[in-house]
Amino acid sequence: MALLRMDTLLKEARRNQVALGAFECWDSLNVQGIALAAARTGSPVIFQTTSMEYAPIGGPEIMADMVDFYVRKYSIDAALHLDHGANIKEVEECLRAGYTSVMLDASMKCFEENVSLTKDAADLAHGFNASLEAELGHVGGGDGGVGSESVLTEPKEAAEFVARTDVDCLAVAIGTVHGEYRGKPELRLDRLAEIAQTVKNPLVLHGGSGTPPELLQKAIALGIAKINICTDINKAFLNAIEETRKELSPSLAGNFYRPVVQKMSEKVESLIRLFRREGC
Ligand code: 13P
Repeated sequence: MALLRMDTLLKEARRNQVALGAFECWDSLNVQGIALAAARTGSPVIFQTTSMEYAPIGGPEIMADMVDFYVRKYSIDAALHLDHGANIKEVEECLRAGYTSVMLDASMKCFEENVSLTKDAADLAHGFNASLEAELGHVGGGDGGVGSESVLTEPKEAAEFVARTDVDCLAVAIGTVHGEYRGKPELRLDRLAEIAQTVKNPLVLHGGSGTPPELLQKAIALGIAKINICTDINKAFLNAIEETRKELSPSLAGNFYRPVVQKMSEKVESLIRLFRREGC
């Protein structure tokens, strides 16, 4: 199965009132774990990377080849997405490498500048038959006080933003944070409902890790079609390495691969099932 456009998968998800997990990728073990979980659940999945994740393994071409390999091996429906593209150069680099979706993140800029940068990126992505995600408002960092401050999305601006930019998927700021929460997570579901009334494109929730399952499922019922997960799967990966470390033979360091892939796939599988609102 070849990689698909992300918006095609997400439109279907929104129609069905479910969300797809968008999982950060950094190496072949975690990519394999994600692919396995998608195959086991029979669910489409989004593989995504920032430049900080593809740079250490040698660039977006290697990431695209690796993801494509596992997508074909497990015959799954999937997209490969650039998360938090910093500028148009990064966006173009990933499109040329074969990514089927990109994000241009101008959420820290003023509204007009965000509109203009997003419109340019949308035109570029569509020329490659790929979809574009952008963010309005800003999802800040939790991480015990480190990172940028959140700015909630203004529902009135959301419809205008989508109409003027041709963006395919819109990331909204409704109270989640990237990384660990500082206090009790609280989502502005009222705001999300208002946005969802006027924006019919798939809506994206960044900062999925650590968000209570019942809040995520309410957000999905209101229109969230993609949930980004980074911290939770990084933790699962590191814990699995930690657990297997003691049993490693000095001449077979690769022996930790299988248990790490296994733990990664278990974690991703449980999130995929949650986002499908199983048990609701
Ligand atoms: P978390 O690390 O909170 O899951 O956030 C991931 C994210 O939004 C990546 O864009």
